[in-house]
Amino acid sequence: MRIDQVLAHAGYGTRKQVRQLIKRRYVKVNGDVVTNHGLHVDPNTDVITVHDDEVTYQKYVYLMLNKPSGYITATHDRKHLTVLDLVPDQYVHYRLSPVGRLDKDTEGLLLITNDGKINHMLTSPKRNIWKTYEAVVSGVVTEKHVEQFRHGITLDDGYKTKPARLTIINIEGNRSLVNIMLTEGKYHQVKRMFQATDMEVLYLKRTKIGDIQLDDQLDPGQIRPLTAEEIAWLESLKEGE
Ligand code: URA
Repeated sequence: MRIDQVLAHAGYGTRKQVRQLIKRRYVKVNGDVVTNHGLHVDPNTDVITVHDDEVTYQKYVYLMLNKPSGYITATHDRKHLTVLDLVPDQYVHYRLSPVGRLDKDTEGLLLITNDGKINHMLTSPKRNIWKTYEAVVSGVVTEKHVEQFRHGITLDDGYKTKPARLTIINIEGNRSLVNIMLTEGKYHQVKRMFQATDMEVLYLKRTKIGDIQLDDQLDPGQIRPLTAEEIAWLESLKEGE
């Protein structure tokens, strides 16, 4: 990989700014001053320094956000705050994207990464990765609904969903607290599945994607990098390719 690319990825500025650092002889590879910004290096084995500080290079970034209500799942938007507005500046140069989509009023687990392959794998319905949501629904959810969801629900546009796992957690008056697990993510899917059974979702929060559980230490709006164990699970998906 070219040294200017490595440094730009690692947060030392734009390609142009990085070339200035090289021109001023601030960059060394294995102790030798770099004069050619096109120099090929292996960021995993070569020791790269800027102002004699060692560069830690990371190709992929994987973040967990506890998405608060009020943010749209997009990389940028003229009118609304996006989930990328919650990502600390240190990650700005990584060209991150959210994995899948949560509605503006949906809360909970959102992964954000620059690993396009993983992003696709987690969202592709073909991979059958279970996404778990907690929902408060207006109406009394019964075993009949559990059965209907298990067989798939026909949505307003005629699409029949893949089987979903619905679990009743608690019923209070005319409100039900449920868990729902899906392997696909059609537009407003959970809300539309309940609509199709004459119920309304009042609150929705994603709690799990595959083996990755929303960290209960993260307040809404907080973000943390995935742990080594969580990344290992993502890597295991690539192995199954
Ligand atoms: N289903 C929905 O209806 N909304 C979401 O945000 C996610 C799943």
